[in-house]
Amino acid sequence: MFKINENYQKLPGSYLFSGIAKKVSAFTQANPDREVIRLGIGDVTQPLVPTVIEAMHRAVDEMGKAETFHGYAPDLGYEFLRNAIAANDYAARGCNIAPDEIFVSDGAKSDSANIQEIFGADNKIAVCDPVYPVYVDSNVMSGRTGVYNTETETWSDVIYMPCTMENGFVPEFPKETPDMIYLCLPNNPTGTTITKAQLQEWVDYANKVGAVIIYDGAYEAYISEEDVAHSIYECQGARTCAIELKSFSKNAGFTGVRLGYAVVPKELKCGEVSLHGMWARRHGTKFNGAPYIVQRAGEATYSPQGKAELKEQVAYYMKNASVIKEGLKDAGYTVFGGVNAPYIWLKTPEQMTSWEFFDYLLEQANVVGTPGSGFGPSGEGYFRLTAFGSYENTLTAIERIKKL
Ligand code: MLT
Repeated sequence: MFKINENYQKLPGSYLFSGIAKKVSAFTQANPDREVIRLGIGDVTQPLVPTVIEAMHRAVDEMGKAETFHGYAPDLGYEFLRNAIAANDYAARGCNIAPDEIFVSDGAKSDSANIQEIFGADNKIAVCDPVYPVYVDSNVMSGRTGVYNTETETWSDVIYMPCTMENGFVPEFPKETPDMIYLCLPNNPTGTTITKAQLQEWVDYANKVGAVIIYDGAYEAYISEEDVAHSIYECQGARTCAIELKSFSKNAGFTGVRLGYAVVPKELKCGEVSLHGMWARRHGTKFNGAPYIVQRAGEATYSPQGKAELKEQVAYYMKNASVIKEGLKDAGYTVFGGVNAPYIWLKTPEQMTSWEFFDYLLEQANVVGTPGSGFGPSGEGYFRLTAFGSYENTLTAIERIKKL
């Protein structure tokens, strides 16, 4: 008789955004006349920019001719894309990352879930609390998190680093030494970030204790403040302790296109074993590459015209962030984020729990957001709204919330 991976049985409930989608779908079915505005999952709404569309059309035409047809992509991704990434995301910022340290993938969600595979089952992970649920759930699936406590909603073998308004949403070094540290900056869900000097302290700490940092930089394009690092490799010593994950979903609207990459520097080693070699082995075995058409689309995001168009798109979403932030402040809410990230993190009013506020907002304003407690116990009493809606819907949603 076959056996299942029992670790899956330990997962409490469904994946956060699947659960929310089910709740919203039940509400819209019961209330077909209500116009629901979705500011829950961080999914983009604006179309791909013209330069990307043109690149995709050209690539589609190439695929239609024998002379220019492309089959399997090279293991690490096409050189044209890796060269563009190395030049624009790294060399231009003074970071020393070679094209062959970049692994093109189908997105940062899969990379952030899969990367734990190359680490031993007895590694102890540290996560910010609240946190993007994929980091913890993927470690649960591989049996690294111990026992779940339904009261505290925490795992016995996970080190939680609370990020709340009391500490300015800045994680503190944990008392217990972790082996793997997940950092997402600018942060999902709180929309806040830390300075480059604070990030340098994390790099120094990781090098000192022999931990690896899994650095999720999916929201980097939204950084507006000068003293915030765009890559962890801007910090001295990051090449020996950090893996960086990047996405084209948020900066270029590729949520439905799928493209991302992981950087694993060659100096990152456990004893004599190179993590770069391990990830290359894993990538070669389990992944057959992002589609040629999509990689050409990714390359186009680095052209001067592509960059200009994307800058405008990011500004569009950040205008929404400011509408949400200012509107909620006017309505008396305590709000955070929305300056270096497309997420607004608010305190729920009148001691409501995160889920009570979710129901209240859905029923009374027909606006969908994400309950903070879905991201971890320290998210209780908070709520997340995304700036990725259309401008018109964002305005309407805030007007409705103000009237409550
Ligand atoms: C979110 O809403 O947190 C994000 O959309 C999730 C993701 O990027 O996978």
